[in-house]
Amino acid sequence: MSSSNQYNRLAIVFHWLLALLIILSMIIGKVVLERIPNSDPEKLNILQGHSIFGIIIGLLMIARYLNIKLRGKPDPIDSSGKLMRQTALWAHRIIYLLVFITVATGLAMAVQADFPAVFSGVATLPESFNHLTARTVHNLSTNLLILVLLTHISAALYHQLIMRDKILHRLRWKRMD
Ligand code: HEM
Repeated sequence: MSSSNQYNRLAIVFHWLLALLIILSMIIGKVVLERIPNSDPEKLNILQGHSIFGIIIGLLMIARYLNIKLRGKPDPIDSSGKLMRQTALWAHRIIYLLVFITVATGLAMAVQADFPAVFSGVATLPESFNHLTARTVHNLSTNLLILVLLTHISAALYHQLIMRDKILHRLRWKRMD
């Protein structure tokens, strides 16, 4: 495998950093945030951290997209047939779309509940976020994102372990010649 079959190093950093931040945000959202009532004073700190992570994810996604658009990406892997290539292409587009919807609906909740005023101590959190449409869409997009990401990870493992086409080498820091 030549280095032209690998993603550029910036794309590799974006990929693994985003994977980590998205998984952490999912866990914090599903396991912690969703279960703590807004009346709990602890919620404020966790919500602040979650919002900052979410905004960083949004910015990194834009940077990642621009990097790929400007510097291109390696050709599809040889072992993929036309159908597999199309499926992968659409899976990646859906991941981008769902992450952007999740960040946008998170930001919409932040605006509607006036997070800047809440975080600076001038206002308090609403009793709950459940009445907000953005909250319903945020919940839906995160559930869909979990599903698509699990498919994405399974496909990568299928390539790596069953087809043995070294697909993960394309996302390795070390250059292959
Ligand atoms: C890709 C980025 C993000 C991910 C993966 C994510 C993930 C999650 C998850 C899994 C939940 C629980 C949803 C549920 O099942 O009900 C949640 C809730 C929430 N998120 Fe996000 N989120 C992201 C970005 C953001 C951003 C940017 C903000 C705000 C600036 C935000 C604000 C919130 C709020 C207010 C809740 C509701 C908490 C509650 O109802 O108790 N999120 N998020």
